[in-house]
Amino acid sequence: MRFILIGDVIGRTGRNTLKEVLPEVKKKYKPDFIVINGENLAGGYGITKKVFKEIDKLGIDVITSGNHIWDKKEIYQFIDEEPKLLRPANYPPMVPGRGYGIYEKNGKYIAVINLMGRVFMGIPLDCPFRKFDEIYNEIKDKVDYIIVDFHGEATSEKNAFGYYVDGRATVVYGTHTHIPTADERILPKNTVYITDVGLTGAFQSVIGIEPKNSIKGFLTGLPQKYDVAKGEKIFNALFVEIDNFQIEMERIQIKIL
Ligand SMILES: [Fe+2]
Ligand SMILES: [Fe+2]
Repeated sequence: MRFILIGDVIGRTGRNTLKEVLPEVKKKYKPDFIVINGENLAGGYGITKKVFKEIDKLGIDVITSGNHIWDKKEIYQFIDEEPKLLRPANYPPMVPGRGYGIYEKNGKYIAVINLMGRVFMGIPLDCPFRKFDEIYNEIKDKVDYIIVDFHGEATSEKNAFGYYVDGRATVVYGTHTHIPTADERILPKNTVYITDVGLTGAFQSVIGIEPKNSIKGFLTGLPQKYDVAKGEKIFNALFVEIDNFQIEMERIQIKIL
Protein backbone atom coordinates (compact mmCIF):
# COMPACT_ATOMS: atom_id res chain seq x y z
CA MET A 1 0.00 0.00 0.00
CA ARG A 2 1.40 3.34 -1.06
CA PHE A 3 0.45 6.50 0.81
CA ILE A 4 1.00 10.17 0.04
CA LEU A 5 0.40 12.23 3.20
CA ILE A 6 0.14 15.97 2.71
CA GLY A 7 0.12 18.61 5.46
CA ASP A 8 -1.79 21.90 5.62
CA VAL A 9 -2.76 23.17 2.16
CA ILE A 10 -2.95 26.97 2.36
CA GLY A 11 -5.59 28.87 0.40
CA ARG A 12 -5.79 29.28 -3.37
CA THR A 13 -1.99 29.15 -3.70
CA GLY A 14 -2.02 25.77 -1.97
CA ARG A 15 -4.92 24.47 -4.06
CA ASN A 16 -3.18 25.54 -7.26
CA THR A 17 0.03 23.89 -6.08
CA LEU A 18 -1.86 20.62 -5.57
CA LYS A 19 -3.40 20.87 -9.04
CA GLU A 20 -0.02 21.45 -10.65
CA VAL A 21 1.99 18.90 -8.70
CA LEU A 22 -0.35 15.97 -8.08
CA PRO A 23 -0.32 14.54 -11.65
CA GLU A 24 3.49 14.36 -11.51
CA VAL A 25 3.46 12.93 -7.95
CA LYS A 26 0.87 10.30 -8.91
CA LYS A 27 2.94 9.28 -11.93
CA LYS A 28 6.13 8.92 -9.92
CA TYR A 29 4.86 7.41 -6.62
CA LYS A 30 1.69 5.65 -7.79
CA PRO A 31 -0.12 6.22 -4.47
CA ASP A 32 -3.10 4.06 -3.52
CA PHE A 33 -4.23 6.54 -0.89
CA ILE A 34 -3.81 10.32 -0.54
CA VAL A 35 -4.59 12.41 2.55
CA ILE A 36 -4.37 16.19 2.85
CA ASN A 37 -4.98 18.52 5.78
CA GLY A 38 -7.71 20.94 4.71
CA GLU A 39 -8.06 23.31 7.68
CA ASN A 40 -6.59 26.24 5.66
CA LEU A 41 -8.03 25.46 2.22
CA ALA A 42 -10.46 28.38 1.92
CA GLY A 43 -8.57 31.71 2.01
CA GLY A 44 -6.26 30.26 4.66
CA TYR A 45 -9.13 29.80 7.12
CA GLY A 46 -11.37 26.75 7.17
CA ILE A 47 -13.08 24.99 4.30
CA THR A 48 -16.22 25.65 2.28
CA LYS A 49 -18.38 23.15 0.44
CA LYS A 50 -17.27 24.66 -2.88
CA VAL A 51 -13.59 24.24 -2.03
CA PHE A 52 -14.22 20.73 -0.71
CA LYS A 53 -15.72 19.77 -4.09
CA GLU A 54 -12.86 21.40 -5.99
CA ILE A 55 -10.32 19.37 -3.99
CA ASP A 56 -12.36 16.16 -4.07
CA LYS A 57 -12.00 16.12 -7.88
CA LEU A 58 -8.23 15.78 -7.54
CA GLY A 59 -8.57 12.22 -6.24
CA ILE A 60 -7.94 12.90 -2.54
CA ASP A 61 -9.13 10.04 -0.32
CA VAL A 62 -9.43 11.85 3.00
CA ILE A 63 -9.24 15.46 4.21
CA THR A 64 -8.11 15.86 7.80
CA SER A 65 -8.14 19.17 9.66
CA GLY A 66 -7.42 20.98 12.91
CA ASN A 67 -8.22 24.10 14.91
CA HIS A 68 -9.09 26.18 11.80
CA ILE A 69 -11.76 23.77 10.56
CA TRP A 70 -14.48 25.89 12.21
CA ASP A 71 -13.49 29.23 10.61
CA LYS A 72 -16.11 29.17 7.82
CA LYS A 73 -19.51 28.93 9.45
CA GLU A 74 -21.02 26.75 6.70
CA ILE A 75 -18.83 23.86 7.93
CA TYR A 76 -21.40 23.23 10.69
CA GLN A 77 -23.96 22.40 7.99
CA PHE A 78 -21.92 19.93 5.97
CA ILE A 79 -19.24 18.34 8.16
CA ASP A 80 -21.66 15.63 9.30
CA GLU A 81 -22.50 14.76 5.68
CA GLU A 82 -18.94 14.22 4.41
CA PRO A 83 -17.35 10.95 5.55
CA LYS A 84 -14.09 11.96 3.83
CA LEU A 85 -13.77 15.09 5.96
CA LEU A 86 -12.41 14.71 9.48
CA ARG A 87 -11.93 17.03 12.45
CA PRO A 88 -9.74 16.16 15.44
CA ALA A 89 -11.25 13.20 17.31
CA ASN A 90 -10.45 14.59 20.75
CA TYR A 91 -12.87 17.51 20.52
CA PRO A 92 -15.55 16.94 23.15
CA PRO A 93 -18.27 14.46 22.07
CA MET A 94 -20.99 17.10 21.39
CA VAL A 95 -18.90 18.76 18.63
CA PRO A 96 -20.15 18.10 15.05
CA GLY A 97 -18.27 15.94 12.58
CA ARG A 98 -16.19 12.80 13.00
CA GLY A 99 -12.61 12.31 14.14
CA TYR A 100 -11.77 9.13 12.29
CA GLY A 101 -12.99 6.99 9.44
CA ILE A 102 -12.37 3.57 7.92
CA TYR A 103 -11.90 3.59 4.15
CA GLU A 104 -11.68 0.64 1.79
CA LYS A 105 -9.03 0.80 -0.91
CA ASN A 106 -7.80 -2.00 -3.17
CA GLY A 107 -9.28 -4.65 -0.85
CA LYS A 108 -7.61 -3.21 2.27
CA TYR A 109 -9.11 -1.24 5.14
CA ILE A 110 -7.40 1.97 6.14
CA ALA A 111 -8.29 3.90 9.29
CA VAL A 112 -7.45 7.58 9.29
CA ILE A 113 -7.48 9.18 12.73
CA ASN A 114 -7.23 12.94 13.19
CA LEU A 115 -6.06 14.15 16.62
CA MET A 116 -4.98 17.50 18.00
CA GLY A 117 -2.34 18.35 20.57
CA ARG A 118 -3.11 20.33 23.72
CA VAL A 119 0.23 22.08 24.31
CA PHE A 120 0.13 25.78 23.25
CA MET A 121 -3.20 25.25 21.45
CA GLY A 122 -5.46 26.95 23.99
CA ILE A 123 -8.40 24.66 23.27
CA PRO A 124 -10.02 22.54 26.02
CA LEU A 125 -9.65 19.22 24.21
CA ASP A 126 -9.80 15.70 25.58
CA CYS A 127 -6.49 13.86 25.93
CA PRO A 128 -5.27 12.84 22.44
CA PHE A 129 -3.23 9.93 23.86
CA ARG A 130 -6.21 8.36 25.65
CA LYS A 131 -8.51 9.17 22.70
CA PHE A 132 -6.18 7.18 20.46
CA ASP A 133 -6.38 4.20 22.88
CA GLU A 134 -10.16 4.37 22.79
CA ILE A 135 -10.37 4.46 18.99
CA TYR A 136 -7.63 1.85 18.59
CA ASN A 137 -9.49 -0.62 20.78
CA GLU A 138 -12.61 -0.14 18.67
CA ILE A 139 -10.97 -0.52 15.26
CA LYS A 140 -7.84 -2.64 15.63
CA ASP A 141 -9.43 -5.88 14.45
CA LYS A 142 -11.22 -4.22 11.52
CA VAL A 143 -8.38 -2.48 9.69
CA ASP A 144 -5.10 -3.21 7.91
CA TYR A 145 -3.51 0.21 8.36
CA ILE A 146 -3.89 3.06 10.86
CA ILE A 147 -2.83 6.52 9.69
CA VAL A 148 -2.75 9.36 12.25
CA ASP A 149 -2.64 13.08 11.45
CA PHE A 150 -1.53 14.63 14.76
CA HIS A 151 -2.26 18.35 14.51
CA GLY A 152 -0.13 20.12 17.08
CA GLU A 153 2.14 23.01 17.94
CA ALA A 154 4.66 21.38 20.27
CA THR A 155 7.21 19.05 18.71
CA SER A 156 7.67 17.31 22.07
CA GLU A 157 3.99 16.37 22.27
CA LYS A 158 3.96 14.98 18.72
CA ASN A 159 7.22 13.16 19.35
CA ALA A 160 5.96 11.57 22.58
CA PHE A 161 2.72 10.60 20.87
CA GLY A 162 4.67 8.83 18.11
CA TYR A 163 6.45 6.64 20.66
CA TYR A 164 3.22 6.13 22.63
CA VAL A 165 1.47 4.57 19.61
CA ASP A 166 4.57 2.87 18.18
CA GLY A 167 3.60 -0.60 16.99
CA ARG A 168 -0.09 0.30 16.95
CA ALA A 169 -0.33 3.07 14.32
CA THR A 170 1.12 2.47 10.85
CA VAL A 171 2.06 6.13 10.35
CA VAL A 172 1.96 9.20 12.60
CA TYR A 173 2.59 12.49 10.85
CA GLY A 174 2.36 15.98 12.27
CA THR A 175 0.55 19.00 10.83
CA HIS A 176 -0.29 22.56 12.01
CA THR A 177 3.12 24.26 12.25
CA HIS A 178 3.26 24.48 8.43
CA ILE A 179 7.05 24.07 8.57
CA PRO A 180 8.44 20.70 7.50
CA THR A 181 10.74 18.84 9.86
CA ALA A 182 13.60 16.62 8.70
CA ASP A 183 13.11 13.90 11.33
CA GLU A 184 11.22 11.22 9.45
CA ARG A 185 12.04 7.81 10.88
CA ILE A 186 10.84 4.32 11.59
CA LEU A 187 10.26 3.94 15.32
CA PRO A 188 11.47 0.75 17.12
CA LYS A 189 8.15 -1.08 16.67
CA ASN A 190 7.80 -0.02 13.01
CA THR A 191 5.52 3.02 13.16
CA VAL A 192 6.57 5.58 10.55
CA TYR A 193 6.88 9.03 12.13
CA ILE A 194 7.49 12.67 11.16
CA THR A 195 6.92 15.70 13.42
CA ASP A 196 5.53 17.97 10.69
CA VAL A 197 5.01 17.36 6.99
CA GLY A 198 4.97 21.12 6.26
CA LEU A 199 2.66 23.27 4.20
CA THR A 200 1.63 23.18 0.58
CA GLY A 201 1.28 26.73 -0.70
CA ALA A 202 3.41 29.85 -1.03
CA PHE A 203 7.13 29.36 -0.47
CA GLN A 204 7.99 33.01 0.27
CA SER A 205 5.56 33.37 3.14
CA VAL A 206 5.16 33.27 6.91
CA ILE A 207 3.54 29.85 7.32
CA GLY A 208 1.62 30.43 4.07
CA ILE A 209 0.56 34.05 4.49
CA GLU A 210 1.98 37.38 3.30
CA PRO A 211 5.02 38.27 5.48
CA LYS A 212 4.21 42.02 5.60
CA ASN A 213 1.15 41.86 7.85
CA SER A 214 2.58 39.06 9.92
CA ILE A 215 5.62 41.22 10.75
CA LYS A 216 3.32 44.16 11.52
CA GLY A 217 1.39 41.92 13.92
CA PHE A 218 4.56 40.98 15.79
CA LEU A 219 5.78 44.60 15.89
CA THR A 220 2.53 46.14 17.15
CA GLY A 221 0.60 43.35 18.88
CA LEU A 222 -2.48 44.52 16.98
CA PRO A 223 -4.79 42.21 15.03
CA GLN A 224 -3.97 42.05 11.31
CA LYS A 225 -5.65 40.92 8.12
CA TYR A 226 -3.73 37.86 7.05
CA ASP A 227 -3.75 37.28 3.29
CA VAL A 228 -2.63 34.06 1.64
CA ALA A 229 0.77 34.66 -0.02
CA LYS A 230 1.27 34.17 -3.74
CA GLY A 231 4.25 33.57 -6.02
CA GLU A 232 6.68 30.66 -5.88
CA LYS A 233 4.92 27.51 -4.68
CA ILE A 234 6.02 24.61 -2.54
CA PHE A 235 4.59 21.13 -2.12
CA ASN A 236 5.54 19.08 0.94
CA ALA A 237 4.48 15.50 1.58
CA LEU A 238 5.51 12.20 3.08
CA PHE A 239 5.48 9.11 0.90
CA VAL A 240 5.15 5.78 2.72
CA GLU A 241 5.05 2.35 1.18
CA ILE A 242 4.20 -0.67 3.30
CA ASP A 243 4.66 -3.98 1.55
CA ASN A 244 4.26 -6.92 3.95
CA PHE A 245 7.19 -6.33 6.29
CA GLN A 246 9.05 -3.81 4.15
CA ILE A 247 8.68 -0.12 4.92
CA GLU A 248 9.87 2.62 2.60
CA MET A 249 9.49 6.33 3.19
CA GLU A 250 10.54 9.52 1.53
CA ARG A 251 10.06 13.16 2.38
CA ILE A 252 8.94 14.92 -0.79
CA GLN A 253 9.49 18.60 -1.50
CA ILE A 254 8.72 20.12 -4.89
CA LYS A 255 9.11 23.83 -5.71
CA ILE A 256 7.39 25.51 -8.64
CA LEU A 257 8.36 28.97 -9.87
FE1 LIG B 1 -2.79 24.96 9.45
FE1 LIG C 1 -3.84 24.31 12.73
